[in-house]
Amino acid sequence: MDNKESSVTPETSVFHQKQSGIIPYFRIGYAMLASIFAACIIVQVFFAGMALFMGYAGWGLHISFVPMFMYLPLLMLVTGIIGRLTKKLIWMNVMLVAMIILQYITVEFSTEMGVLGALHPIIAFLLFGASLSMAQQSWKYV
Ligand code: HEM
Repeated sequence: MDNKESSVTPETSVFHQKQSGIIPYFRIGYAMLASIFAACIIVQVFFAGMALFMGYAGWGLHISFVPMFMYLPLLMLVTGIIGRLTKKLIWMNVMLVAMIILQYITVEFSTEMGVLGALHPIIAFLLFGASLSMAQQSWKYV
């Protein structure tokens, strides 16, 4: 690794430099949205757990809660692009959108998918891991 390359650390990269104008506000907005989304995933898994122990009422909550947070990743995508966040974060964001769609697919086509329907809770786990990591990363750029 040459000297030029090694002198660019995460702390000195363009993403860590103080940004002016509207960019800092969008970065704060992004970090807040990512944190809220991660919290919503925990609540969503909690509702699934409630359904296992309490019966159908729990599934009602699980189903009706999704529309309250499923558009957050799209809002994060716009906020992240305007806030000039890293390509890594933007790509992870696209993955969040794809995983939400997969959650619907695994439920809607559960009969056709057979055992692959079991991916639903696995994707829940990935959604939480990804959004937690995104929240942690994005707060560093605030
Ligand atoms: C351990 C975690 C989870 C389990 C066991 C689980 C299980 C289920 C089950 C059994 C259903 C079908 C309910 C029914 O049709 O009566 C369902 C629906 C659904 N779940 Fe999950 N889920 C989990 C986590 C999540 C998470 C984190 C999301 C995040 C987006 C999610 C999104 C959805 C969606 C979009 C539906 C379909 C809603 C609809 O039909 O309108 N689930 N889930």
